[in-house]
Amino acid sequence: MNRKKSDSWFKRAGQVIPGGIYGHVAPAAGLPRSFPHYCKQAKDCRFTDLDGNEWLDFMCGFGAILHGYLNPKVEEAVENQRLRGSVFNQPSTLMVELAERMVEAIDFADWAVFAKNGSDLTTWAIRVAREKSGREFIIKAKGAYHGVDAWCDPGLGGRIPSDREKILEFKWNDFDHLSDLVKKRRNQVAGIILTPYHHAAFAPSEMPADGFWQDTQNLCKSEGIALILDDVRTGGRLHDSGSHRFFNFTPDMAIYSKALGNGYAISACLGSEWFRSAASDVFLTGSCWNDALAMAAANASFELSQKNGVASYIRNIGKFFSSKLEVLTANHGLPLKMTGPPSMPYPFIEGDSNLYKIQKFCQSCAEVGLYFHPHHNWFLGSSHSEKDIIETLDRVEVALTHFQANER
Ligand SMILES: Cc1ncc(COP(=O)(O)O)c(C=O)c1O
Repeated sequence: MNRKKSDSWFKRAGQVIPGGIYGHVAPAAGLPRSFPHYCKQAKDCRFTDLDGNEWLDFMCGFGAILHGYLNPKVEEAVENQRLRGSVFNQPSTLMVELAERMVEAIDFADWAVFAKNGSDLTTWAIRVAREKSGREFIIKAKGAYHGVDAWCDPGLGGRIPSDREKILEFKWNDFDHLSDLVKKRRNQVAGIILTPYHHAAFAPSEMPADGFWQDTQNLCKSEGIALILDDVRTGGRLHDSGSHRFFNFTPDMAIYSKALGNGYAISACLGSEWFRSAASDVFLTGSCWNDALAMAAANASFELSQKNGVASYIRNIGKFFSSKLEVLTANHGLPLKMTGPPSMPYPFIEGDSNLYKIQKFCQSCAEVGLYFHPHHNWFLGSSHSEKDIIETLDRVEVALTHFQANER
């Protein structure tokens, strides 16, 4: 696969951007020498890289694209607003419409606020929980990602010990450990922040154990703790009206971002009446916080999900894909298991403790133009059709021949 242009731009980037590309798409964090560094254009579930190579995509902009790249309905809404402008001194009424739309659809919610990134609002929500309760401690699951701020980021640098003094961690699904932490810090825990299921990088996804959410919800209620749902990654892919509906529990606040604007930067925190006054006391703003283009995109995107039952579609197409892929790989002697929900599956190979085989498998798939990430959950979207999945499986068949030849 030709990577000449991509490599040359990456070299240029290294001169002026620390590391060239940073964060979770840094080449070292994925699959060195397999994925392109830069993308030229994308449509539906396919993209073309800088060197003109065409890819069938299973990462959807790392989750930001729910309805396909350049979805016509979303782009039309954005274009209509673009004629009027994007950022003003005041918000546009699109912000009110979006808040109304989301509050109506998300059953526990009485209010909504908006920002640009998931991290903006996971951090803001824990401050709201602290403001409401006057307590300091926050509990999270070990290995869970909630953003780039110092209280939770997975990086190594740039922190001081006090950043995490008030953050306690428990092992996902270990309710006894969680309730023990709460008992030890009775009346000191402001909030428990959790993703709907555990989707750590470099590890199979773990669904909630039976009763885990109900027990956690009851614990929060009886101890006066805010239950904060971080639905940034999962929002729109488990249920069209919030992932808590998929697992049947009620949070106090929930944060959405990735899929909300179908590629336009926006995040939302929705909350219950109980937290309304604390929410208005915790300062929130940003350079482009009222960006009407993103609000237009989110209105259109959210409406598409509600109207078309998108979460259910992608769970089903994901199930079709994952089950066929597991059989195909098993037939070639590769015990691949797709863990987590099928709309955003994480690939894992039995016995592959150093993750060597999954890397090699994804590398072989990259050679035939399939963008499968070895260490992060994949994302499906409403633009993945049965025909696309069948084409993908045909390409996997070819990739498996390369894989087996390389293993010999
Ligand atoms: C579960 C979860 N929470 C929070 C975030 C942070 O969101 P952002 O990258 O938009 O700041 C992410 C991003 O990947 C996420 O997956």
